[in-house]
Amino acid sequence: MSTDAIVLLKADHKEIRKVFSDFEKAGENANAAKGKLVNKMIELLTVHTYIENEVMYPRVRALLPELEDDVLESYEEHHVADLLVVELAALKPTAERFTAKTTVLIENVRHHMDEEEQDWFPQVRAGLGRATLQQIGAEMVEARKKAPRKPSQPSALKKTIDAVIA
Ligand SMILES: [Fe+2]
Ligand SMILES: [Fe+2]
Repeated sequence: MSTDAIVLLKADHKEIRKVFSDFEKAGENANAAKGKLVNKMIELLTVHTYIENEVMYPRVRALLPELEDDVLESYEEHHVADLLVVELAALKPTAERFTAKTTVLIENVRHHMDEEEQDWFPQVRAGLGRATLQQIGAEMVEARKKAPRKPSQPSALKKTIDAVIA
């Protein structure tokens, strides 16, 4: 199986996008289904953010300094999503703001994933090449094994805090 970093991250994005559209298709009053989908969303986003923050972004930043500004912007976009995720994790599906907050999270994350896929990944692929992307991907596979699955786990917040106070 390929461990190309970009292939792995795109596969994550695809899975995340599926949960987003399932949420949008769930009925207005499908509280139980929407609650489950949001839990799934939170888990997928927590893991994905962790492997990008811990492996992909620092490696790219070190190897391709010309992409540093994009990496810093991505840390901030992850941070905004993290804040929404933490708030959402504390809300019941019956809460007045539950659907609105989820919708804003979906809009933000979709925009971020579109930018990564359409703009950033092609630049990273051109700059790093196949062998390096395979190596970074292998590191991500390892990082995924110890990734937090809930935003309340301390390791989920570490890199975001680093990005803000560093
Ligand atoms: Fe990202
Ligand atoms: Fe991503």
